[in-house]
Amino acid sequence: MPRMSTAPDLARADGLTPLQRAARHRLMLGLFIPLQQGAWSPSTWPRGTSWSFEFNAECAVRADELGFDLVFGLAQWLGKGGYGGQMRFRENATDPLLVTAGLAPLTRNIILISTVHILYGWHPLHLAKFAASIDHMSNGRWGLNVVTGYKKSEYEMFGLEPIEHDLRYEMADEFSVLMRRLWTEDENLSVDGRWWRMKDAFVAPKPVNGTVLMVNAASSGAGLAYAARHSDLIFITSPAGADLDRACAALPAHNRAIKALARSHGREVKTIINPHVICGETEREAREQYRAILEHQDPVAADNFYATFAGGDQASWRAATRDDWIVGGNVHVVGSPEQVVDAFVRLHEAGCDGVQVNFYDYAPDLERFGARVLPLMKQAGLRAG
Ligand SMILES: Cc1cc2nc3c(=O)[nH]c(=O)nc-3n(C[C@H](O)[C@H](O)[C@H](O)COP(=O)(O)O)c2cc1C
Repeated sequence: MPRMSTAPDLARADGLTPLQRAARHRLMLGLFIPLQQGAWSPSTWPRGTSWSFEFNAECAVRADELGFDLVFGLAQWLGKGGYGGQMRFRENATDPLLVTAGLAPLTRNIILISTVHILYGWHPLHLAKFAASIDHMSNGRWGLNVVTGYKKSEYEMFGLEPIEHDLRYEMADEFSVLMRRLWTEDENLSVDGRWWRMKDAFVAPKPVNGTVLMVNAASSGAGLAYAARHSDLIFITSPAGADLDRACAALPAHNRAIKALARSHGREVKTIINPHVICGETEREAREQYRAILEHQDPVAADNFYATFAGGDQASWRAATRDDWIVGGNVHVVGSPEQVVDAFVRLHEAGCDGVQVNFYDYAPDLERFGARVLPLMKQAGLRAG
């Protein structure tokens, strides 16, 4: 029988979890994989980016080879045509839970983070079991991004009534406590909770590192209170929109508040932000790409995409403008390799523990990033050699 191994290349003798190992870099580095058709940008400017599993697997494997710490996939539920427009923006989209399971045996060191909408019909026992399974398939490299769902249309797709914002996080709290108990307790579990019941429930195997890496992307008071209690890693957004200067002015207080809140619960959390990186050989080249993405916008898709985030009751993306949404991502980092690294230094100085980048044309952009940006990140001391 052919031998296959998902054991990491890096020595396990250090006794660290994959997140602790990633956090030894001054700036953790992740890749936001393009599971959705059109990825982040409702623009028809030509590119090779694809939502297919094959393409995403190539991105994840390459990021692993380049020494990235993590890849992350978002989850969404859209009707026919996705966000619409000529490009049927995001109509095709694979599910990150299944994709990260598929990536487990293809990768070796990189952390694989999947989003799950835990309130769309899941029972904590299901997800605790699935999570423990993928955790073992990846040898402890899997993380769960818990989202509660902020779109009425998504709840309706599942035949559910939308749930009030803060109540969602109360439910997420109970859900997460129950999963943690299933991962850590060595007896059958019977619970008559406020929302979930179980009798003699048990999960084995237990997660490789004792528990599963927990992630969340909250911004609101209730969301951050949940994250401070349960999450190891928090995807943060710029409270001041995509402009780098404004973001770097607003982020220090935001990061400080999140970490202080976690400490008040006796916990340490890491924060990571997702810049959209447009890197050219020169600033001029990068700015031309930025302009081309905007000029080729699909107006209907852009309107619908922007409206989704401007509406709803989530707090993360409030300051982003319509143009910010056409380019995509959170903070825009546009320039030469040196300027990209300068921006990363500033985000680090603003209290971010990591960046997880998204691109427009993933294959060439990732290659360029590996060849031109990563060596400069090492030189700047952001990444260990
Ligand atoms: C990097 C990042 C990724 C996210 N991924 C998803 C996702 O996959 N699916 C989703 O419904 N929401 C996603 N969200 C939105 C969050 O779930 C959440 O609704 C939002 O950050 C608002 O938090 P709040 O409820 O505290 O206001 C993401 C947010 C960020 C910043």
